[in-house]
Amino acid sequence: MKQLEGLSTETIIERGKNVVMNTYGRLPMTIVKGEGAWVWDAEGKRYLDFLTGLAVNSLGHNHPAIVQAIQEQAKEIIHVSNLYWIPNQVALAERLVEHSFADKVFFCNSGAEANEAAFKLARKYAHKKFGAHKYEVVTLENSFHGRTLATLTLTGQTKYQEGYEPLPVGCTYAKLNDLESLKAKVNKNTAAVFIEPIQGEGGVLPASQEFLQGARALCDQFGALLIFDEVQCGVGRTGKLFAYEWSGVAPDIMTLAKALGGGVPIGAMLATDEVALAFQPGDHASTFGGNPLATASGCAALDVMLENGFMEGVQERSAYFKKGLEELAAKHQTGDPVRGQGFIIGWPVSKMGPEIVEACRLNGLLINCVGGKILRFLPPLMVEKQAIDQALKILDEVFSELWK
Ligand SMILES: Cc1ncc(COP(=O)(O)O)c(C=O)c1O
Repeated sequence: MKQLEGLSTETIIERGKNVVMNTYGRLPMTIVKGEGAWVWDAEGKRYLDFLTGLAVNSLGHNHPAIVQAIQEQAKEIIHVSNLYWIPNQVALAERLVEHSFADKVFFCNSGAEANEAAFKLARKYAHKKFGAHKYEVVTLENSFHGRTLATLTLTGQTKYQEGYEPLPVGCTYAKLNDLESLKAKVNKNTAAVFIEPIQGEGGVLPASQEFLQGARALCDQFGALLIFDEVQCGVGRTGKLFAYEWSGVAPDIMTLAKALGGGVPIGAMLATDEVALAFQPGDHASTFGGNPLATASGCAALDVMLENGFMEGVQERSAYFKKGLEELAAKHQTGDPVRGQGFIIGWPVSKMGPEIVEACRLNGLLINCVGGKILRFLPPLMVEKQAIDQALKILDEVFSELWK
C-alpha cells in the first residue's frame, strides 16, 4: 500500500512539518517514483535526476538487477544478526577485496558509521602497536566525513561543529593539496591521516596525485595510517571502481557507503590484514551491518559495475558531459574552470548558485549547489548522451535567462 497516496505535495509538506524534525532545508517537492535517470513528483511531473540521492542511485533508479536482488532476498530472509555468518555479506566482501587494496571488510549502514569505524580502528591499531600517546588524527580543512560527534570532528568545517562542543580530542586540520601544511601536522603522535580523494561536500575539489603521494610517504615515515574516505567519490563515481586507483596511491583503510548498496543503506570500512587485526571480537559492531538484504543489493550493484566496458562507458560519457559544461562555462563566462573526475563534477559560479539550482528544478533538472557557489553534478553512471544533451540544454537556457 502506498502511504499518503493521492494527497497533494502541499498537504504532504504541511503534515511533514508537523511531525518530521526540522534538520533539512528541503525543497518544496516530493519524489515518488524513479526509473533510470528520471524521477517523478507526486503531481506526475518528470525530472532528470543529476543528483541521484547524493551519489547513492549510481545505477539510476530501479535498475532491474537491483530490484530483482532485493525482491528475491526479501522472500528468503531480510535480517540476520552478525552472531551468524551471512553468505551475501561474505560474497560482497569477496568482491570488494578482489577489486581493491584491502584484505578485510567491516560492514555498517552509512558513511558516518564507516568513518567512525575507521577512526576507531586507527586508534586501536596505534594504541596496540605504539602505545596510548599515538592517538592524533589529521584531516583536511573543508572536508566532510559525517555527522556523528566523532565524524563531525573529523570534518574540517566549523559550521558543522558549532554548538556540539566539547568535541572529541585529537583532531587537527591541514590544507588540501598543500604538503607543507600536512607536514606541519603529522608527527610521531599521529595515528591516521584522513583524506577524501575528491572532496565532495567541500566543493568537488580533487586531491592532487603529488599530495596523495606525499601523504602516503609522511604516513609511512611516522607509522600513521592513511585513510581514504570514498563514501561519495568511490564505487564507480569517478570512472574507476575506486577513486584512489587514479592516483596509484593505496591507503591502509578506505570507507565506502552511498552507491555501495544500489540504493539500500549500507556502509563499509576496508583495511589491510595487518591493520584489520587490531579489531578482535567485541571491539566494534553494528546490528544491521552487512545484513542479507543490503548485501544482496550490494552484490548486484557491483556485478553491474564490474561488467566489461562499464567503467570505460562512464569515462567516455562523463568526459562528454564535462566538455559540454566547459563550453557552457566559456559561453556564459562564469569564471573558474569546471572540475572533478568522471561523474562527480563541480562548476564554480561566483553568484546565484541557489537561484540556478531552483531554475533548473523548475525546468526539470535536479542538481545542487555546495557552499552556495559550486554547482554539483552527480548523474547516474549509466546516463545516456541524449539525457546529457537535455541537461546541457536546460542549463544553457537557465544561464541565458539568469546570468547577466
Ligand atoms: C565524503 C563523505 N563522507 C561521509 C559522509 C557521510 O555519509 P552518511 O551521510 O551516509 O553518514 C558523506 C556524506 O555526504 C560524504 O560525502
